[in-house]
Amino acid sequence: MAQITIHVQPRPYQARIENGLLSRAGSVLSESFPQASRLFIITVPPVRKRWGSKLVQAVTAAGFPVQVISMPDGEPSKRLATVEHLAEKLSKLGADRKSVIVALGGGVVGDIAGLLASLYMRGVEFVQVPTTVLAQVDASIGGKTGVNLVAGKNLLGTFYHPHAVLIDPQLLKTLPDREFRSGLYESLKCGIIGDVELFLRFEQGRTKILKRDPAELEAIIAQSVKLKAEVVSADEKEGGLRRVLNLGHTIGHALEAETGYKRLLHGEAVAWGMIAATNIALTVGRTDSVTAGRIADAVLSLGRLPEVNVSPRKILGRLQSDKKTQNRIVHFILPREIGKVEVASDVPEAAILSAVEELRRLSRGGWVWGK
Ligand SMILES: NC(=O)c1ccc[n+]([C@@H]2O[C@H](COP(=O)([O-])OP(=O)(O)OC[C@H]3O[C@@H](n4cnc5c(N)ncnc54)[C@H](O)[C@@H]3O)[C@@H](O)[C@H]2O)c1
Ligand SMILES: [Zn+2]
Repeated sequence: MAQITIHVQPRPYQARIENGLLSRAGSVLSESFPQASRLFIITVPPVRKRWGSKLVQAVTAAGFPVQVISMPDGEPSKRLATVEHLAEKLSKLGADRKSVIVALGGGVVGDIAGLLASLYMRGVEFVQVPTTVLAQVDASIGGKTGVNLVAGKNLLGTFYHPHAVLIDPQLLKTLPDREFRSGLYESLKCGIIGDVELFLRFEQGRTKILKRDPAELEAIIAQSVKLKAEVVSADEKEGGLRRVLNLGHTIGHALEAETGYKRLLHGEAVAWGMIAATNIALTVGRTDSVTAGRIADAVLSLGRLPEVNVSPRKILGRLQSDKKTQNRIVHFILPREIGKVEVASDVPEAAILSAVEELRRLSRGGWVWGK
């Protein structure tokens, strides 16, 4: 079992990572909420079907009155209208200021339930029970909530930290394979950014990870959460340090947008983005070919990624017109060694174009490192 503290104002909170934790959720929550408050579990039908009754049983046994509220599944439901709809339901069910909202699901549920918790009666307590790899290693930590606007993803949201994060890697047993692997890239990213030992687990324990060995999953999830918790604790609201978490996301986001958010799952886009960033780092002399080769191998050995057949020029255009880009200067997080990255704002356009071109070739199976 790992217990990791996220040091944020005004109150630090803990993430617990433990196989079988779901069935002990009742007793864990009684420690946080000694006065048995009412719990409202927000979830989606696929997760409710598999894990809903187990959570309900666990918290009921600990004396919590509980109600489950379902929302529609999938990214298209990450809209403000869903938050309003859920708030109306809470109010009809008599939720008050002492009620606790529990997010049981992936990043979509976590982002929606977090926003709901931050708004309902100007803020009620909130607990995350993430059920995807992506949500366990990334979305449930850091306090970002949000919904999408027509103009773009996550444009409306708040910073609102949960009271606790309960992570049970066994919940990943029922996750579809593609979703499972897609989340692993975010965990691998944590290794590349700042944890050599985690990276080595991917290099040496890949078979176990892909077989979803419970002990191995518990270890990589705990190490990823630790890395994210350290970064978030040092830079709660994305001053500078938190940017390192964006390794692979600069080109990754552009790939997602350019392919209409249909071809690639987020983690898959990040996987391609990390390969592109590594390739750029090699071109501009920030890393060496051995390190670059290890990173590319670690990414590619987690499974086949969907083909990216995009125009490098169009990707460059997207990067330069991105709202976060100032004066057309694109900031990249580049790997230097395993466990060390740096921010670069001087990457020549040619290096970006050739890195994206390499992705096209590689995704068709014809690319060799260093050639
Ligand atoms: N707040 C943050 O800091 C942050 C960080 C990263 C991503 N996000 C957000 O997270 C979202 C993506 O999250 P996601 O990848 O978890 O997607 P998701 O929440 O849509 O879940 C993916 C799919 O898996 C299903 N599912 C979830 N858990 C399951 C389980 N245990 N067994 C079977 N099926 C299960 C869901 O029903 C869904 O169909 C995006 O909206 C993204 O913007 C937020
Ligand atoms: Zn991401």
